[in-house]
Amino acid sequence: MRGQKAFGLAKGGRRDTVHRMDSHVDINRDHWNGMAEEWVAAGEKAWASGSPYWGIWEVPERELGLLPEDMAGMDAVELGCGTGYVSGWMARRGARVTGIDLSAGQLATARRLAGEHGADIRFEEGNAEALPFADGAFDFAISEYGAAIWCDPTVWLREAWRVLRPGGRLVFLGHHAFVYLTTPLNGAACERVLHRAYRGIGRVDWTQVEIDPGGIEYSLTFADWITLFLEIGFSVEGLKEVYAPEGVTGEEFGIPAAWSRDFPAEHVWWLRKG
Ligand SMILES: C[S@@+](CC[C@H](N)C(=O)[O-])C[C@H]1O[C@@H](n2cnc3c(N)ncnc32)[C@H](O)[C@@H]1O
Repeated sequence: MRGQKAFGLAKGGRRDTVHRMDSHVDINRDHWNGMAEEWVAAGEKAWASGSPYWGIWEVPERELGLLPEDMAGMDAVELGCGTGYVSGWMARRGARVTGIDLSAGQLATARRLAGEHGADIRFEEGNAEALPFADGAFDFAISEYGAAIWCDPTVWLREAWRVLRPGGRLVFLGHHAFVYLTTPLNGAACERVLHRAYRGIGRVDWTQVEIDPGGIEYSLTFADWITLFLEIGFSVEGLKEVYAPEGVTGEEFGIPAAWSRDFPAEHVWWLRKG
């Protein structure tokens, strides 16, 4: 698969499928089940890592700080957990962890790796836009390229808010809007040129692109992110834009490192309920 790009820029999906009648959830479920095998090695590597790292540039946790140091006694949920390594890192910090994902294939890897690493994690198959959890069930919610990009933010963020306790925190990492704006419409790698309107970015459909087609993703303008957070009832505790670290070369998931030394490929938001 050319799905090197599939971290977020949903490339490498099933090229033969006509999805016109399907929702983004159905399309993305097919996409991820079709690709699950190709994510096993990355999952194994991350589960084996003694310390967390994030995103396409594998930036160490000590530089980004997505996870509370001590999660003892916390109920934590990962929204779109994939192979479950973030859930594993939270379990190692003492949290009671639930991971939810749309893809049975991804969850099979997550369950196997949790078993091999002796992690007691509840993995559920389901949609992060309609969480099968009670109101106020969790202290902490996280998504690294899960719900963060594959779900409609006007829906999944409300669900995340609902399942958090008052004062609970949501952290998520996904592509920066620049990635969507500067990817040519045929699906080639990011350029230093704008190819889409920033205004109303919303739903980005990669299913029909010429180069390495994939699934459906979502992004917002920064004003729209903040307006939505406040409308739902989140307060914003932090935002970081993530650039390619010095020394990284080549291209990851259709994002050239040289490009991302000048443009952030990712954003991380830290939100609090109430
Ligand atoms: C890039 S993985 C992110 C997980 C993890 N950080 C990783 O990289 O393996 C994206 C995951 O989001 C999941 N996903 C996509 N749409 C979803 C939805 N609506 N609800 C739950 N999970 C979803 C996919 O099945 C996939 O496993």
